[in-house]
Amino acid sequence: MTAVKVLGICGSTRKSSLNRALLRTVGEHLPEGTVFATWEGLEQLPIFNSDLEDPTPVMTLKSAIASADGVVFAVPEYNYSIPGGLKNALDWVSRPPISSPLRGKPVALVGAATGISGTMRAQLHMRQMLVYSDTPCMSQPEVLIPRAHERFDKAGVLTDEPTRQLIGRFASAFVAHIRRFELK
Ligand SMILES: Cc1cc2nc3c(=O)[nH]c(=O)nc-3n(C[C@H](O)[C@H](O)[C@H](O)COP(=O)(O)O)c2cc1C
Repeated sequence: MTAVKVLGICGSTRKSSLNRALLRTVGEHLPEGTVFATWEGLEQLPIFNSDLEDPTPVMTLKSAIASADGVVFAVPEYNYSIPGGLKNALDWVSRPPISSPLRGKPVALVGAATGISGTMRAQLHMRQMLVYSDTPCMSQPEVLIPRAHERFDKAGVLTDEPTRQLIGRFASAFVAHIRRFELK
C-alpha cells in the first residue's frame, strides 16, 4: 500500500507554541505507513496582494500542500478567531480558486489554547473558510484542547493521558478520512 503523506501546518510562529507541540504529537501518533512533515514558512509570507505573482514562499507552500495526501492545521485562537498569519496563508493558497491545492484536499484541524474553549471559535471560522476552497475537512473527532499549558510540560510533551488517547483516535481517523479520497 502506498505511504500516506501528511503535512502539518502550525498557525503559530511562537517558538514554544503549544499548537506546534500538539502538531508534533499528532505526527507521533500517525499509524505506520504514514509519512509526516511540517511546513514552517508562515513568517516568510508577505501580506496577500493580488497584484503580486506568487512569491517564492507561497510557491513552496502551495507545492507542499499539493504533494501531500492530507493536511493537518494546528489552529491557535486569537481574539475569537484564527491568527492573521494563518488567514494570510489561506488567502494566498486559495488563489486562483480553480487551481488551489486546497481544492479537494482532505484536511483536519486541531487546536490548543490557554483559555477554556480550546480554540472552538477559531476552528469554526477555519471550517467556514475551507468551504470556499471546497476542502473536505474532517468533522470528528474534534481536538479542542483547553488550558493546554496544563497538559504539556516545559519541553512540549503532552503529559495528559486522556488527551494523548484523543490524539491517537484523531490520527487514525484522519488517515481513514484521507483514504476515502484517491491517493496520489
Ligand atoms: C493576540 C492574542 C489573542 C488571544 N485570543 C485568545 C482567544 O480568543 N481565545 C483563547 O482561548 N485564547 C486566546 N489567546 C491565548 C492563546 O490561546 C495562547 O496564547 C496560546 O498559547 C496561543 O497558541 P500558541 O501557544 O500555539 O502560540 C490569545 C493570545 C494572543 C497572543
